[in-house]
Formats: sequence, C-alpha cells, structure tokens
Amino acid sequence: MIDYDICKEKLKSILSEKRFIHSVNVSKAAEKLAVCYGVDVNKAKIAGLLHDACKEMGEEALTKLLSEANSELFNAFKNFPFKLYHGPAATVYLREEFGIDDEEILSAVCFHTTGHADMTVMEKIVFVADYISEERPFGNLKELQALALKNINLVMFDKCKVAIEKCINKRLTIHPYTVATYNDIIEKEGN
Ligand SMILES: [Fe+2]
Ligand SMILES: [Fe+2]
Repeated sequence: MIDYDICKEKLKSILSEKRFIHSVNVSKAAEKLAVCYGVDVNKAKIAGLLHDACKEMGEEALTKLLSEANSELFNAFKNFPFKLYHGPAATVYLREEFGIDDEEILSAVCFHTTGHADMTVMEKIVFVADYISEERPFGNLKELQALALKNINLVMFDKCKVAIEKCINKRLTIHPYTVATYNDIIEKEGN
C-alpha cells in the first residue's frame, strides 16, 4: 500500500503552501467521496493529494514530461493551453519521483482537469474533489459538497460548465475531453 504520510511530506517540499493546503483538502474531499461511493479510500486519498504535483512547473518542464507520456496522451494535449498539461504530465512525474504505478490513481490524476467520456468512479471522485475542496471561495460550496454525496454527476456538470464558460470568456480553446465529459453527463442525467 502506498504510504500517505510519506507522499504528503514529499509533496510539501515541492509545492507552495497555498497549493499544498489545497492538495490536502482535495485529499480529504476525495476520502469522503470514496467512502460514499465504495471505492478504495487510500487510493482516492493519494490521488487527491498528488493531483496537482506538477501544477507549479513551467511550460518547458511540463512539455518535456508530457512528451514522455504515451503518444495518445501527448497528442491529446499538445495543442491546448499548457495549464492543462499538469494532469497528464503527472503520470510520468509520479511514477518517477513518487514510485506510483497504480493505474487507477494515475488516470484519476491525469484527467482531474479535463475529465473524459465514461469516467471511472475513482476519476470522478478526484475530478469533483478538486472542485469542492474546503478552501474554494464559492458561495454555494456547502451545497456542492452535499450534492456530490448524492449525485456526483451533477457536480461534474457544474465543474464542466464553469470551465467551458471560463474558456469562452477568455477566448481560450476548449479541450475536447471537457466537452466529452459535459456531453456524457447530459446524456446520462438529461437536461
Ligand atoms: Fe489541477
Ligand atoms: Fe487542484
């Protein structure tokens, strides 16, 4: 079993205090969701903790890591804003620097920003935990946290909507995986 406390200490040494606090909060949110939805709690905690391990790296380092990921991932992300790279890039970084080789954890980290169609429960948990972590300044945070325990898909919908609106407002390209996640939820939950 991957040791949570060792990962936490190591993460603390590579992230700013603000990002570290966010990471611990995401891990706590992921733990609650994992208990609720019956998936491996330790894996969810680790994935939540480490999801932003590469978030503070520069474009060059992220591009290098991404290019070392599998070609499918590289091709899926290479033409989009580099801020999205930190998920897929972490699949390489966490293997090399943290010794994480659990595919369930790695794919949840990989897709925590964009999502994709037909996500696993573990992927959904990290995707949503990142959105409802305790330090988020949303006025409706408590409602979102409660809703996530009842119907996680509806909080995924909210995260996609906000992400897509942000891209439109900033005239940024929208990653097709985000659109696929959105469409998938609409198909499953209706409009
Ligand atoms: Fe992130
Ligand atoms: Fe995050």
